[in-house]
Amino acid sequence: MTLSQFENELTIHEHTQAGTLDEFHRAYEAEVDDIRSDFGATHPLRIDGDAVETGETFTVTNPGDTDQVLGEFAAGDETHVDEAVAAASDAFDEWKETSWEERVAIFRDAADVIQDRKLEITALMAYENAKTRNEAIAEVDEAIDFLRYYSSELERNEGYTADTHEPTPGQRCVSDLQPYGVFGVVAPFNFPFAITVGMTTGALITGNTAVVKPASTTPLTAHAFYDALAEAGIPDGVVNLVTGGGRAVGQPMIEHEDVAGFVFTGSREVGLEIQRTFDELGKRGPVVAELGGKNPVIVSDSADVSKAVSGVKFGAFSFSGQKCSATSRVYVHEDIADEFTEQLVEETNDLSIGKPENRETVVSPLIDDSAIERYDDICETAAADGTVLTGGSRIDRENLPTGRYVEPTVVTDIPHDHALATDEHFLPFVTIHPVSSLEEGITKANDSDYGLCAGLFSEDEDEIDTWFDRIESGMCYVNREQSATTGALVEAQPFGGWKYSGTTGKFAGGPWYLQQFMRQQSRTVVG
Ligand code: NAD
Ligand code: ALA
Repeated sequence: MTLSQFENELTIHEHTQAGTLDEFHRAYEAEVDDIRSDFGATHPLRIDGDAVETGETFTVTNPGDTDQVLGEFAAGDETHVDEAVAAASDAFDEWKETSWEERVAIFRDAADVIQDRKLEITALMAYENAKTRNEAIAEVDEAIDFLRYYSSELERNEGYTADTHEPTPGQRCVSDLQPYGVFGVVAPFNFPFAITVGMTTGALITGNTAVVKPASTTPLTAHAFYDALAEAGIPDGVVNLVTGGGRAVGQPMIEHEDVAGFVFTGSREVGLEIQRTFDELGKRGPVVAELGGKNPVIVSDSADVSKAVSGVKFGAFSFSGQKCSATSRVYVHEDIADEFTEQLVEETNDLSIGKPENRETVVSPLIDDSAIERYDDICETAAADGTVLTGGSRIDRENLPTGRYVEPTVVTDIPHDHALATDEHFLPFVTIHPVSSLEEGITKANDSDYGLCAGLFSEDEDEIDTWFDRIESGMCYVNREQSATTGALVEAQPFGGWKYSGTTGKFAGGPWYLQQFMRQQSRTVVG
């Protein structure tokens, strides 16, 4: 068997190395202008390969300019979930019998299609969820990585069929992993492309079929993925796309008796509800769920303060903190707390806030009105119960269109167990807590329901070892200047969380992810 070598897609890095970054920027800007003319169309559901109208649509607008309509999307309901699950059930028998090599060929082709459309999908995200260009292209790279990495994992494991074994003469034994049936796939708004691609590929490449529901704010990129799969030749019914609300579409998917397994990324609340429903209905299939985070960073007195400031600033505020991996609380040694905090405030004030398609933008607008309301609420609480060092207000500037622009916010004097420091807010908001030792920092960092990402800034090898040994977190990063806690790479940094940040402890983009979508069978023939 020849193993295909997996390599990450690293567009920005490659352009930087080749000295062609300006070309990339110009091409992106041309694409951002071009795709505007595609907006406003109506997008049907996709069931059994057919375009299905539902009679009702919902409108998706640009979070950075809420007057700009991106499209009308068919609003699905329980009836459409029934139709999509029926199509996926019908397609299952043939798909599971399709050889793993043929399945891999389809997903590798889909990766190539997406690679050809990389700039278009990157530009779509500027409009759909207001993602800045560097973040958006890294997300499309990650999607391609998921497709190719899971393909190479299937190859490396030879389709997850173990060699025959003959324990005693005349007994032939095979052990293999087999798909469950129909999977529900429900995705969040913040990584609408990479996470939708990763979860769907996990379910399908292992021989299951699927019904996919994107977040209702971000269905455009899900359609781009559906189109890539169709172009790569996926058979009708294997993947079905049902757009609509969480209650209207997501809930009936969870409850449907023919949905055998579920893969979900989103809030802890919804993820646990899916798990509860599965348990109550007596379903025996898996719920693979990646949930929220409240990601701590410890800054030791041995740290390089400038590095720590940079890491926290980008970790907390890029994409306006709307990442499960965003840095949201900082435990800084009291001897350097003033220096660190002053520098963080100064650099936060210099961050460029604006439209995502602007080259210099770091802090782009929030996704929807409920995010703005949550921002107002927590800033009001922060002002009442602590000290707001910078930020705390919405931005109303002549040069920004109607949108949801807010100031990145740094807060201190908040008790460690205050809701501002324990709950996930998913906003550009970070709390700073001075501590007297690494020990105190670790204890407080671990005193959380979540365990997704954690960062440490330290120049002391013993401290680094102690922190790795004791920190309760799936993702552990030391001295990352570009971002303290965000930005995992497929294969190099399999992504997932401990505690209430996930349900299975097997991480996306890692060597044990695909096995979760299959169940084992031992086959023995005597004679
Ligand atoms: P969300 O939980 O509100 O929504 C996620 C998806 O679930 C959406 O498609 C939504 O329509 C659907 N949904 C909502 N209610 C539902 C219900 N009752 N039944 C079925 N589906 C339902 O999350 P969001 O606001 O889109 O994303 C932000 C959350 O996602 C944050 O908590 C963030 O930490 C988490 N997240 C986690 C990871 C990770 O890998 N751990 C990655 C990205 C986002
Ligand atoms: N995988 C994303 C990150 O690492 C969430 O930031």
